[in-house]
Amino acid sequence: MSGPLLKVENLTKHYPLGTGFLKKTVPVIRAVEDVSFSVEAGETLCIVGESGCGKSTVARLLMRLVEPTGGRVLIDGTDIAGLKKDALRAWRRRMQMVFQDPYSSLNPRLTAERIITEPVENFERLSRKQRHALAADLLRKVGMWPEMMHRLPSELSGGQRQRLGIARALSLNPSLIIADEAVSALDVSVQAQILNLLLDLQQQMGIAFVFISHDLGVVEHIAHRVAVMYLGRIVELAPCEALFAKPVHPYTEALIAAAPVPDPTHLRLEATVEGEVPSPINPPTGCAFHPRCPLAVELCRTDVPPLVSTADGRLAACHMRAPATDIAAHLEHSLTGGQVS
Ligand SMILES: Nc1ncnc2c1ncn2[C@@H]1O[C@H](COP(=O)(O)OP(=O)(O)OP(=O)(O)O)[C@@H](O)[C@H]1O
Ligand code: SF4
Ligand SMILES: [Mg+2]
Repeated sequence: MSGPLLKVENLTKHYPLGTGFLKKTVPVIRAVEDVSFSVEAGETLCIVGESGCGKSTVARLLMRLVEPTGGRVLIDGTDIAGLKKDALRAWRRRMQMVFQDPYSSLNPRLTAERIITEPVENFERLSRKQRHALAADLLRKVGMWPEMMHRLPSELSGGQRQRLGIARALSLNPSLIIADEAVSALDVSVQAQILNLLLDLQQQMGIAFVFISHDLGVVEHIAHRVAVMYLGRIVELAPCEALFAKPVHPYTEALIAAAPVPDPTHLRLEATVEGEVPSPINPPTGCAFHPRCPLAVELCRTDVPPLVSTADGRLAACHMRAPATDIAAHLEHSLTGGQVS
């Protein structure tokens, strides 16, 4: 099939704040605002950004755990909103999710064997022998001993629990795994092992990943492309190497500059950008980054910068660094005070 595996078009999610009783308009939290991207088969797209920028909401929208306020999600060209029962079940086999906290996402009363085989048993009945064989195979794939299939989650280490969550996600042979902060709760050395496991599985099985993280060290290690989110919007989307070598958007630049110099024994690089993240209930007008941006001009306070292609093939939303043609003319006009030279 030609075209991307996953295509997201103008995805938007607003959460109403309260009931708005006696009020004409209900205030909303603008969690995700007009987000578009695509993911090719076998590709890793990382989504980064500060806490509250909408990363997990995008993941929930992709998995149809919440309904969008606007926009659509297409798998192999099919809009998932229009899927009926059987097609929806078939689609669910193709997309799986791995969560941040494996302990709370695994049933504590089930053995590893049951946890791993449960997704398959939702589709087909397995004999005892088949269940055993499947669990053993998947445990080996994620670097665990088959004997561990009899253990409960509480009898495993944090890293082993996350491997179990990955084995469960692999059980239906998915085309795409959405991993939301999948290694954030783990020790640094275990983080590196799990990341390398994901890279190996991708090579062996051609799985695509949407990998969500606020940790730039992790992102640089595994991403093919990176989408940077700020207050619900994608502000830059670029191949990983290009993004880290030469960020275009001032927010990406600030995130990378704020990350400490990497220590090869320590993968975790948590970036903090100066200034407060504004409220998603009442975001700043124009470019939402303008109150924190050293390059801001008047246009930034009034007009939302569109996400445009730059000469080197990335997308960026910045009036100064990636001006759209007509906006460039407007900017020139306002910078020269309307004088024609
Ligand atoms: N169910 C909900 N109801 C109301 N608001 C929500 C809901 N879920 C998320 N939000 C709000 O939407 C915004 C985006 O939240 P989200 O969880 O997507 O952020 P995030 O980027 O994943 O943050 P973190 O890095 O802390 O996990 C936040 O302001 C959050 O408070
Ligand atoms: S549009 Fe303006 S405020 Fe926004 S990042 Fe670019 S220069 Fe800064
Ligand atoms: Mg989150």
